[in-house]
Order: sequence, then C-alpha cells, then structure tokens
Amino acid sequence: MVSRAWARLRPSEIVPSPNIWHFPQVYEAENRAQDADGTLWRFLSDLCDWSGDVLDVGCGDGFHLPRLAETARSVLGVEPHPPLVERARVRIAGLPQVKVVAGSAQGLPVGDASVDVVHARTAYFFGPGCDPGLREADRVLRPGGSLVIIDLDGLSSPYGPWLRADLPTYDPVEVDKFFDLQGFDLHRVTTVWRFPDRRTLAAVLRIEFSARVAQRAIDEVTDLEFPVGYRVLVRRKPTGLLT
Ligand SMILES: C[S@@+](CC[C@H](N)C(=O)[O-])C[C@H]1O[C@@H](n2cnc3c(N)ncnc32)[C@H](O)[C@@H]1O
Repeated sequence: MVSRAWARLRPSEIVPSPNIWHFPQVYEAENRAQDADGTLWRFLSDLCDWSGDVLDVGCGDGFHLPRLAETARSVLGVEPHPPLVERARVRIAGLPQVKVVAGSAQGLPVGDASVDVVHARTAYFFGPGCDPGLREADRVLRPGGSLVIIDLDGLSSPYGPWLRADLPTYDPVEVDKFFDLQGFDLHRVTTVWRFPDRRTLAAVLRIEFSARVAQRAIDEVTDLEFPVGYRVLVRRKPTGLLT
C-alpha cells in the first residue's frame, strides 16, 4: 500500500509542533491524560467503520496507532518529523499490521483509493489553508471511506479560552464555517483530561501554552482534572455514480 509519494515531502508544508517535537516525554503524559474516561474513543467507534485500512496523518510518535490496530486490518502512520517517525516505529514494533512512514498530509505516501479511514488528531487540519490535505485525503480514500479530523474546541471552556488567549487571531467560528463549506459534519465531544499528580498537569500545560497562560491555567485548575472539548469533523467520500 505504501508508495514513493514520500519524496514529495517539503519542509515548508510542515506545521511546527513544539509540544511533541521538543518535549515528547511530556507529550506522552499528555496523551495518557487525554480522554481519561474514553468518551472520545466511544464516540469515534460509533462514527464510522474502523475495521479496514486506516491511515493516521500526523501520527506524531504513534500514540494512537496500537489502539487503532485493535480493530483495523492495517494501520499506516504518516509523520513528517523524522525523530517522531523513529519513536513511532519503536512503539509499533511487534504489531505486524502497523507501519509508519515519513510523509505529510499534502503528499500521502499511498495510492489512490487505497484506505478506508483517514484519521487526523490535532494535526495539520486546523482550518483555512488545509485544502491541499483535504484533496489528498479524498484521493487516497476508497468510495464510502471517511476522513475524520479531531481537534480541540476553541469554544469550550476552560481549554478554549486558554487557547485563544495565546492565539488571538484564531477564530473558532470561522474555522467551523470553513469545514462546513467543505462538506464536513461537526460533532462536539466533551472529555476529561486526568493527571496522576499536579507536577504532570503543570508540565503538560507548560508545553501547550505561553508561560503566562500556562500559569493562569495551572491556577484555575485546583484539581487533577479538567474538561476538554473536542471538535470531531467527518466527511464521507461518496460511493457509486457520485464518485
Ligand atoms: C500535536 S502533534 C499530534 C500528534 C498525534 N496525532 C497525537 O495525537 O499524538 C501534531 C503532529 O502533526 C505533525 N505535522 C506537522 N505538519 C504536518 C503535515 N503537513 N502533515 C502531517 N502531519 C504534520 C507534527 O509533526 C506532529 O507530529
């Protein structure tokens, strides 16, 4: 299934991700804290059929690959940052149905109509400007396949206001409009991020936000957990004569 399209990887297409690039261990703790009650996974499992060939775009160091492999026939992680490709490969060693390759959302290293689900979690598809990746997902999906984009909800408190305090030009309403015009269905899902201790909670907030906003967030959370809203966007590729 993997093709030579990885040769199209261009550094200018990569969206900087300082959290996981510079602090992969803390990001691992963040991934473990996320969706502590499994609400998002339950929602996703009802959203579409995950039993075929699944491609995880911007898979980072592959945290979600083993979970996707529990139901999928095959899982391909695609990631542009070489150190993360290596880390992801270590994680999936021993899972023969999972592979990780270097590539980007704009140049997926697979053939036309070769996967059933394209999954992207907090990666690349952040709103206007991600059209090349949307077209590319469409190219690689089989008729009837689904593009599932999961991102943080900038309108959901308390995480959304923290996010917007650091990104004043980010307009969540405009982002929702963009995906609506692109034909996506939007679902809002509220989850819980739960941490083993305050030290881990503070470390995670410090890799996500500026020092000022991280301190505000640490002060606002008096417990070991807080709610985090996600936007789950899904677009199905038409089948039959419509393709
Ligand atoms: C915040 S991390 C999320 C990683 C992973 N999806 C997870 O949930 O653990 C965003 C990832 O997107 C990757 N990325 C950046 N630009 C990309 C692009 N153009 N195409 C695909 N992935 C990209 C980054 O290298 C990084 O690994």
